[in-house]
Amino acid sequence: MSETALTTAPAADATADSTAADAPKEKVVLAYSGGLDTSVCIKWLIEEYNLDVVAVVGDVGQEHNGLEAIKAKALATGAVDCMVVDMRETFVNEYLSAALAANALYENKYPLVSALSRPLICKHLVDVAHKVGATYIAHGCTGKGNDQVRFEASILMLDPTLSIIAPVRDWDLTSREEEMAWAAEHGIPVPTTQASPYSIDDNLWGRAIECGVLENPWTEPPADIYTMTVDPQAAPDEPTYVSISFKAGIPCALNDTPMSYLAIIEELNTIAGQNGYGRLDMIENRLVGVKSRECYECPAALTIINAHKALEDLCLERDVLHHKLALEQLWGDCVYNGQWFSPLKEALDAFMAHTQQCLTGTIMLKLYKGSCTVVGRKSDYSLYSFELATYGQGDEFDQGAAAGFIELHALSCKVWAKNRLEMGADMHPLSSKVDTVCEFATN
Ligand code: ARG
Repeated sequence: MSETALTTAPAADATADSTAADAPKEKVVLAYSGGLDTSVCIKWLIEEYNLDVVAVVGDVGQEHNGLEAIKAKALATGAVDCMVVDMRETFVNEYLSAALAANALYENKYPLVSALSRPLICKHLVDVAHKVGATYIAHGCTGKGNDQVRFEASILMLDPTLSIIAPVRDWDLTSREEEMAWAAEHGIPVPTTQASPYSIDDNLWGRAIECGVLENPWTEPPADIYTMTVDPQAAPDEPTYVSISFKAGIPCALNDTPMSYLAIIEELNTIAGQNGYGRLDMIENRLVGVKSRECYECPAALTIINAHKALEDLCLERDVLHHKLALEQLWGDCVYNGQWFSPLKEALDAFMAHTQQCLTGTIMLKLYKGSCTVVGRKSDYSLYSFELATYGQGDEFDQGAAAGFIELHALSCKVWAKNRLEMGADMHPLSSKVDTVCEFATN
């Protein structure tokens, strides 16, 4: 990391005065969102670092009021260029496909919304840096979150010769008010309406909401934090049934109508959102060691993962399924922690991809007032055997074989238990300790 840290960035305060006026400036590529932070970053990089700023806006399916307006704002704020890149197809076909193969849920809950978009954005930042001959890349993340790690680790893994500048982490504008005052002084349009008290990041895979009153874990999330999902209490009184078909692990049809994975995500964000499904309210462990209270709404992501897992239950051989569950956790940790381009993640992807080859079939779901239940599953690759499972007529399971199986399955522990008895050991050591444990717990 030290190679690309600020030490190699141009000295702060190197103002235009100290540089020959017409000498070509060095370039920095900035991940730009159009918000106050990254707008201040543009001016800051010009004023404090004397760089030409090339802004890059990535469309990953976030809510916005027009990407052209964001581009105009970047240019008006002083960027020498602003590139708006539609990243949605790649986001879905490379990033959300891999995430689905891994049923990726950090801490068993969060479908990695922001963690998935960062590496893709970085790929474009690095590409643009190469195209325009920039040696610096800048992002607008704070020094407390995971996103700074993801940006910087991804950039380092893609091109270790680039240097990274993190203005928000480095500047001394401590409060929002100070930042707004600095922005106003430097001619940056400051939101006139009361800015949202929340920090929000969103894309096709969902929406993350943090800060404001949510910082108190005892406070119930206010109704107005959600925009993709209705309150489950206000959802329709009738359930909505929806079927998702998969081909080699990728969603390919909704209610038997063939559709692209991208279109299915968009449609399910609407349908599941209307049924109040997909909200999360959790305490999450950030990589930097802080527990934070995070709220999410991920209607399509959670619906699709739910269906995908159900198809795997049907089609994957038991041992593959069990080992995959453990590797899914690892995949989620890896991506959450900014290791998208790492060799470990690459190796895990290869395992996941192998398991998806026969994952073709259809899952029926029932969405109802905030819940999403799997109610049906079918596949030509189903390993479910009625003849083996049934307790009724047509049973082909050899119950007689079970006795010998159990004898051998338990044999090594039986030998151990016999020895313990012979040695006079207490065979139930826990029972004597239970009282002590209870006493401790009640004290
Ligand atoms: N905690 C989530 C993560 O680390 C979401 C972060 C989203 N960023 C934001 N500014 N709200 O992936």
